[in-house]
Amino acid sequence: MNDTPRVRSTRLVRVDEPTTIDDAVAVLLAGGLVALPTETVYGLGAHASNETAVRSVFAAKGRPADHPLIVHLGAADQAPAWAASLSRDAALLAEACWPGPLTLLVPRAAHVLDVVTGGRDTVGVRVPAHPVTSAVLTALEASAPGRGGVAAPSANRFGHVSPTSARHVLDDLDGLVDLVVDGGSSPVGVESTIVDCSVDPPQVLRPGGIPTEQIAELLHGRLAGAGGPSRAPGMLASHYAPRSRVLVAETRNDVERLAAAHPGAAVLGVDGDVVDLARTLYARLRAADDAGAAHVIVLLPPASGLGHAIRDRVLKAAVGRAG
Ligand code: TXA
Ligand code: MG
Repeated sequence: MNDTPRVRSTRLVRVDEPTTIDDAVAVLLAGGLVALPTETVYGLGAHASNETAVRSVFAAKGRPADHPLIVHLGAADQAPAWAASLSRDAALLAEACWPGPLTLLVPRAAHVLDVVTGGRDTVGVRVPAHPVTSAVLTALEASAPGRGGVAAPSANRFGHVSPTSARHVLDDLDGLVDLVVDGGSSPVGVESTIVDCSVDPPQVLRPGGIPTEQIAELLHGRLAGAGGPSRAPGMLASHYAPRSRVLVAETRNDVERLAAAHPGAAVLGVDGDVVDLARTLYARLRAADDAGAAHVIVLLPPASGLGHAIRDRVLKAAVGRAG
């Protein structure tokens, strides 16, 4: 897991320092790696049109090369430059949800690098909602018109819990990233919803920060079920795993039974605030690890709204890390 040599000198800057935006753009244009805050989780960004830079994202994370990266853009009007075509559904979802926690899979434009798409004929695009990250993306686009995208997976080591603070990024990637932009805690806390708009009807591949119900409503119900034809690589059952063993509870009785069997276990989700659970879930899983907790018990929220994303991540965390 920790076999990547840590050779970069990592600099940490706050979002509100006057040089942060220029510094981030300069590092990206020079082919370096910048960890950027977004409303969902922190991303490990490289200039999406620089093949060497994108390759170094995979090396830093220890991520398999066939897991494609999302291209982050400063504004929705940049999306056509990355797509061979945008369906009416894709345009409608973009209009309603961007900037925000939604990733659209669309047919890729010819210039999009294979290293970004994993050789697929689609590309994931997203306009994140974070003012400083947006400013970085907009400035990059001004320097490289039509090519100002940032390819960014979550800024964690492969298979680990996603980062929702600059501290989490440094815990995983210190010495593997050039610049970390500290924007405080990510307000949504779970990753973007991924909707494949290259199939008809569109399909949710990963539940996330925009509830599936909202996507279905925007598309007037024209949405394929999760078991539809499309698949995203990298949705391994062993993803999002802390070292502590995650135990899943569906009811308060389950929580009591598990807590009695595992004294000292951390317990999450019992106050029923689903927005707060999404926002704090990854930090609390990491904190349980740091405290050396053997077990974390999570009371799953109902499968609605943000509950879809939380259930997905917790159930994957409960499978544990492969190998
Ligand atoms: O909220 C988010 O989406 C965060 C922030 C940083 O934007 N990003 C994120 O990226 O979660 P990552 O790489 O950790 O997860 C993206 C998922 C991966 O499972 C990847 O396989 C899938 O999206 N994906 C990206 N492009 C794809 C494509 N063209 N076809 C199929 N799956 C794709
Ligand atoms: Mg990830």
